[in-house]
Amino acid sequence: MSNFLVAIDGPAGSGKSTISENISARCGFIHIDTGSMYRAITLYAINNNLVLDDPNSYSFIDKINIRLSGDKIYLDGKDITRDIRNRHVTENVSLVSSISIVREKLVCLQKKLAIGKIVMDGRDIGSVVLPNANLKIFLTAESKIRAYRRLKEKNETINETDLIVEEKNIKRRDELDSNRVNSPLVVPAGAIIIDTTKLNIEEVTNKIIDLINERLNK
Ligand code: DC
Repeated sequence: MSNFLVAIDGPAGSGKSTISENISARCGFIHIDTGSMYRAITLYAINNNLVLDDPNSYSFIDKINIRLSGDKIYLDGKDITRDIRNRHVTENVSLVSSISIVREKLVCLQKKLAIGKIVMDGRDIGSVVLPNANLKIFLTAESKIRAYRRLKEKNETINETDLIVEEKNIKRRDELDSNRVNSPLVVPAGAIIIDTTKLNIEEVTNKIIDLINERLNK
């Protein structure tokens, strides 16, 4: 099977995962959510009471097994799909993903997984993991709308106070992800920027699928 690699980067709440899922369902691509891998490492470190900011804590990475299957993620055979979304993991994952050894190991694993028709989303996919991707997309949106989307995933009703707190958290994560020394969140060379603030999921998905078809038919 020939390769066709789609790299989707962008900040938290820009719609990367949902849109990548849609592309996967509609185009038969395998979706690799790299954020879920950083979350898996964070969950393991928290559950084992490791010192999160000490690079020496992460020697376990060579001994554990992370497996993605459809929209599920397994750590040493255990389904951790729900656990990686808990608040404690979300609050610490930016710190864990800034540790060099963690990035080196996961980038290596992600490169190995890029065989066939792949849509991979994250923060450094077009810049570091798949610099030769056939299509690079950078999704962005205003922080308030990204905070709203994140809350909407969890709650039906959203009040103004929750929205202010969530926007603050999102901005803090943007800051950490964009300013870290190792593979910061950047617009990769050659990426097409899509601002999703005023677009719905369907509109963004259609735009990207049009771009995929254009390049596949070249
Ligand atoms: O997309 P997400 O919120 O599940 O990502 C979780 C964290 O992982 C986020 O703070 C940034 C980090 N991350 C990263 O540094 N590099 C990636 N390729 C994917 C995610």
